[in-house]
Amino acid sequence: MVKKTKKPSNPDLSIKLCGVMFENPTVLFSGIYESPQDLINASKNGAGAITTKSVSIGLREGHPQPRIVKFDHGFINSVGLKNPGLEKAKEELKKMLLESKSPVIASIFADKTSDFQKLAKEITEVKPHILELNLSCPNVEGEFGRPFATDAKISAKVVRAVKKVSKKVPVIAKLTPNVLDIKEIARAVEGAGADGISAINTIGPGMIIDIKTKKAKLGNKRGGVSGPAIKPVAIRCIFDIYEAVKIPIIGGGGITTGEDAIEIIMAGATAVGIGSAVYLRGRNVFSEICKEMKVFMKKEGYKSLKEIRGAAH
Ligand code: DHB
Repeated sequence: MVKKTKKPSNPDLSIKLCGVMFENPTVLFSGIYESPQDLINASKNGAGAITTKSVSIGLREGHPQPRIVKFDHGFINSVGLKNPGLEKAKEELKKMLLESKSPVIASIFADKTSDFQKLAKEITEVKPHILELNLSCPNVEGEFGRPFATDAKISAKVVRAVKKVSKKVPVIAKLTPNVLDIKEIARAVEGAGADGISAINTIGPGMIIDIKTKKAKLGNKRGGVSGPAIKPVAIRCIFDIYEAVKIPIIGGGGITTGEDAIEIIMAGATAVGIGSAVYLRGRNVFSEICKEMKVFMKKEGYKSLKEIRGAAH
C-alpha cells in the first residue's frame, strides 16, 4: 500500500481588524496612490485593505516639485497633503467602495479639531470600512504649530470629537514616531475611544542636499523620511504601543518583504502597512509579501497569524 504523506496546510493569512475581515494583513498606507483607480488596482493586486490619500475640507495644491526624493535606504517626501477636497473625495470614495476587492480605509486630515469633526461626519456618511485620522503629518503647520499626535491631550481631543459623529465606522488614529513616549499618545487615543492605531507615519523631517547645486533636493526642502532606513524605529514603536494598549495596530514603516511583515506582527501589529515598498518592488508587492510570509510560516510550522502576533513580547 502506498503511504499517504500529509501535505502541510496552507497558512491562513486572514485577519479581523476593528470587526472588519481582511483576506490578508497587508494594507496600502495612505498617500502612496492618489487616483482612485490606482487604489482599486492595489486591491486587485492583493492588498488586504487600501487607504485613501488624506482628505481635507478644501482642495490643497500641495508643495512645489519635486515632492519625493530617493536616497540609498529610503525616501523623503513632502507632498503637502495634495488632495481634491471633501466634495470630490466623497465621490471618489463611493467609486472605491463599489469597485475595491478589499476594505477601504478613508483617511482624513485637518489642522483644527472642528474640521476633523466635520470631515468625519461627512465621510462616514459614505460608509468607508474604517476611518483613519492622520494626526501626524509633518509638513503642514496646524492649530498648534506641530502635528496633533505629538501631544497626548490634543490627540485625545480630536479622537473624542470625531467619535461623537463617526456612527458605526471604526476610527483609527495614525501616530507619529517623532515623540519621546509613543505609549503615552497611544494610551490617550485609546482612552478617548479610538478603535485602533496606525503607526508609524514618517520620521523627521529630514533633508537631502544636492552638493553640486548646493540646494535641498525637495521642493519644500524638508520632508518625512520613509523606507527600509526607518524599519527598526517602526518595530520599536509597534512593540511599545502593543505593551500600552489593547486596541489593534496597523503597523508599518519600511516594511518591504514577507519577513519584515512577520517581524512587525511579532512586535504586535495585527495588520501591516505597506508604503515605500510599492515604489521599491512595484504593484505586485502585496501578493509577493503574502507569498513570502507563507513560505516562512510553512517552514516554521505556523498555521495562522494569531500564533505570531505579539510573539516577541
Ligand atoms: C505628507 C503627509 C504625511 O502624513 C507624511 O508622513 C509625509 C508627507 C505630505 O502630504 O506632505
